[in-house]
Amino acid sequence: MDLYEAIHNRRSHRFYKPDLPPREALERVIDAGLWAPSGTNAQAWEITVLAGKAREEFVELASGAIPYMEPILEKAQIPEENRKLVKGFFKNLGGAPLVIAVTVPRGPDAEMDMAIIQSGAALVQNMLLAAHAEGLGTCWMTGVLFVEKQLLAYLGKGEQRLLAITPIGYSAKTPPVPPRKDREVRWLGF
Ligand SMILES: Cc1cc2nc3c(=O)[nH]c(=O)nc-3n(C[C@H](O)[C@H](O)[C@H](O)COP(=O)(O)O)c2cc1C
Repeated sequence: MDLYEAIHNRRSHRFYKPDLPPREALERVIDAGLWAPSGTNAQAWEITVLAGKAREEFVELASGAIPYMEPILEKAQIPEENRKLVKGFFKNLGGAPLVIAVTVPRGPDAEMDMAIIQSGAALVQNMLLAAHAEGLGTCWMTGVLFVEKQLLAYLGKGEQRLLAITPIGYSAKTPPVPPRKDREVRWLGF
C-alpha cells in the first residue's frame, strides 16, 4: 500500500468483527511498530497483546473509565447520541478480538521522559498504519488512562506508564472521516 494512501485513509474504528486476524499479520504490525525511531535508540517501549480471557478482563477494567468520561463529554456538549456511542465503545472496545497495550518506563529526567513518550507514540502510529495496510482496524485510545493504575497492575507493570491502547481486528463498520483543520504552517526563510 502506498504510504500516503495509508496515512490519509487510516481511520479510528469503533466497531469490530469477532474474527481473529492471522498471527503473521499481527507480527508484521508489531514489527512495523518496533522500527519506529526512538530517542537515543532506547526502544524503551513494551507491547502487550491481549486475547481471550486476558482481553476480557482487561476490557472490563478499562470500562471503569466511563464514569470519568461522562462529565467531560457533557462539558464538550457532545450530543447524547454520540455520548452513548462513546460509552458503548469503552464498554467492549467495539467487540475487537484483540487489544494491544503500549507501556513505557518513566525517564530519569524530564527531557528523557518526553523522548520516551514521543518514541512510544511513533511506535503506536507505525502500528496503526501497518494494521491499516493489513486490512485491520485500530483506534488509538488514551481515554482509558483514567484507570491507568488498575490497567498497569493487571499487566504487571505498576512502575511504568500506560501510553495508549488500541483494539485491533477486522472493522465491522466504515467509520466517518473526521475533517482536518486548515493547516497553519509557517514557512520561514524561503
Ligand atoms: C493520543 C490520542 C488519543 C485518543 N484517544 C481516544 C479515545 O480514548 N477514544 C476514542 O474513541 N478515540 C480516541 N482517539 C482517536 C481520535 O478520536 C481520532 O484519531 C480522531 O477523531 C480523528 O479520527 P481518525 O483517527 O479516524 O482520523 C485518540 C487519538 C489519539 C491520537
